[in-house]
Amino acid sequence: MTYIEIMGGKKLNGEVNIQGSKNTVLPILAATLLINGITKLNHCPKILDVEHMIKILIEIGCSVTWEDSSIIVDTRGLNTEVVPTELVKKMRSSIILLGALLGRSHHAVVSYPGGCTIGARPINFHLDAFQKMNVALEEEDGLVKCVTSGIKGADIYFPSPSVGATENVILAGTLGFGKTRIFNAAREPEILELCKFLNSAGAKIYGAGTSRIEIEGVASLHQTEYSAPSDRIVAGTYLAAAAGTGGEVTLKGIGCGSLSTVIQTLRKMGSHIKCGQDSITIRSGGNVTAIPEIKTAPYPGFPTDMQSQIMSVLMKASGSSKIVEEIFEGRYQNVPEQARFGAQICLHDREAYITGVPVLKASEVSAGELRGGAALVIAGLMAEGKTIVKNPYHIQRGYEDICRDLRTLGAQIDYKEEN
Ligand code: EPU
Repeated sequence: MTYIEIMGGKKLNGEVNIQGSKNTVLPILAATLLINGITKLNHCPKILDVEHMIKILIEIGCSVTWEDSSIIVDTRGLNTEVVPTELVKKMRSSIILLGALLGRSHHAVVSYPGGCTIGARPINFHLDAFQKMNVALEEEDGLVKCVTSGIKGADIYFPSPSVGATENVILAGTLGFGKTRIFNAAREPEILELCKFLNSAGAKIYGAGTSRIEIEGVASLHQTEYSAPSDRIVAGTYLAAAAGTGGEVTLKGIGCGSLSTVIQTLRKMGSHIKCGQDSITIRSGGNVTAIPEIKTAPYPGFPTDMQSQIMSVLMKASGSSKIVEEIFEGRYQNVPEQARFGAQICLHDREAYITGVPVLKASEVSAGELRGGAALVIAGLMAEGKTIVKNPYHIQRGYEDICRDLRTLGAQIDYKEEN
């Protein structure tokens, strides 16, 4: 069994490049199905979730190859609209294939993704929207079977902004008849990227990045090449690590724009952050100021995907901080592991109260999910002595090589094999 070993207590210093964005590349890989031809997607992260999505595309008849950090997808051989259940179970975001397959083939079968370690994660917004777009649904034996005589434009009102449901409606509407309007759409940068990608292939999508998006259906898309931006959550994770350990770190290939609430929070916690055109530099003395309240919210609010990492940094703050997790209740499942480092963390429904300690104690912990796992690595870097993080495959779902990147910054961290 592989685990991560960290000798903590060292400041981070230096420069690191940020990998391509997972949550941009996954929906764009699904979107390539709308193009009956070849797509080249640059700056893709080599992570487990991307490998899973590639496996699914290959299983349903596409040809997919890597060229350095580019992925080339040829969808001309697509030969089934039934997505293999065991692969969908491994990666919840494969539900995004429904919209793309419906657009391309008017037919799709995907297994119900079910529960997930960070919460219930229902797909009712996706399915309700499809029904309004002339899709007939059948749920049988854990499978969602969708069929349409042709996607029809519709007005879709989301009860709350969902990233995946917004993406699925965009994917379904792109090759539909007439106009689809999404109200209360998610505004995450990844939605904007998906729409820029589709528009580069001939789609007509307006308003991406705002809460009202319009999609005018087109008859077909043409081949295209696109470059994914750097991953804002990976960048945020390394900023949090530097804030907690102290030191001076420059992230290359990303600006402050998509991280503004995270940066504001880190500044309040005592870090100095300088925004370059395509870089971010953080300087921290390693002393952390407590924060009265951080509440996660849809973009542009504080991202739920940064909540656990910031909690780790607050474990060293002088005083008490409060976090309110508004998006995924299950994200607190990581808290008992974080608490092993010595801070006091009390949970009450969606609220977490964190009382910091001056010195965190190294620990043996186990990652249960992606961002929670990254938070344990941060705690290990901040703690004095040897920390072991088990089950690092959860972290590898989203981070190309967290050990490599942190070693570049001077950390003593590596993968080890248990005998
Ligand atoms: N929701 C519903 N019904 C639905 C869909 C969503 O009630 O049909 C609720 C969810 O339960 C949640 C909220 O709406 O409370 C927001 O969920 P959303 O649909 O926006 O999340 P998602 O699309 O499943 C994406 C990211 C997540 C990220 C969230 C929120 C991808 C592949 N995943 O998930 O990323 O946390 O948006 O920003 O884009 C991660 O990278 O670690 C990760 C989990």
